[in-house]
Amino acid sequence: MKEAKLREIDHRAFQRRLGPILAVYAAAMRPPAEQLPGRHTIMDRHASHPRFRAVVAERRGVLPLGGTLQGFGYGFAGEHGQWWHDVVYAALAEAGGPEHAARWLDDSFEVAELHVHPDHQGRGLGRRLLTTLCEGRPERTVVLSTLDRRPDTPARRLYRSVGMVDLLTGFDFPGGGPPYAVMGAVLPLAAYEAASSSP
Ligand SMILES: CC(C)(COP(=O)(O)OP(=O)(O)OC[C@H]1O[C@@H](n2cnc3c(N)ncnc32)[C@H](O)[C@@H]1OP(=O)(O)O)[C@@H](O)C(=O)NCCC(=O)NCCS
Repeated sequence: MKEAKLREIDHRAFQRRLGPILAVYAAAMRPPAEQLPGRHTIMDRHASHPRFRAVVAERRGVLPLGGTLQGFGYGFAGEHGQWWHDVVYAALAEAGGPEHAARWLDDSFEVAELHVHPDHQGRGLGRRLLTTLCEGRPERTVVLSTLDRRPDTPARRLYRSVGMVDLLTGFDFPGGGPPYAVMGAVLPLAAYEAASSSP
């Protein structure tokens, strides 16, 4: 199989491609079907967040319609007034004080989604998407949340391998759902497994 080419797309191209992007999300995360319209709305809204950056992985030389998208990731600058930012800010402040929350979140790149279609996992695409997303970002830190499961999920292992550390574990976001870990690193990402970092 040909190696996927990574491509940065702007927010308009991202919004135009929400169908295939959501299909990769659904295949990777297997959420209940009734959650997909809500996820579509959230992703659409994320595209207008500040310094939005999206990277897609697609097979070279094939039309970008129906099944050629192998993975995607996107993020944006975290700011007060954004739901995830405000929830995590409050939790970090409670856990470690307001300065701790500010150090991690006041100048942060929030990676909101990173998914590789199951047919294409385990071949380095997720790592390439993450490092490309974070490359050259102007923010001081990168932060994200991911399912907190034992043993570690592939995502947790990937994030640890680029130097991300646990900021919160077993965290319950408002509205229910499984426990999450919030992870972060000082940018730039480590090229390989690094010792814990502190901003
Ligand atoms: C997490 C995910 C994006 C990783 O993408 P991927 O292309 O499969 O991962 P890569 O091949 O680039 O591997 C990167 C690292 O992830 C970890 N990893 C990947 N697959 C793994 C597996 N099956 N078991 C354990 N670790 C694994 C390893 O640390 C790996 O590094 P290594 O190859 O040097 O050991 C992908 O597995 C995925 O989409 N999973 C489902 C959705 C999800 O959890 N998304 C993240 C939400 S926060």
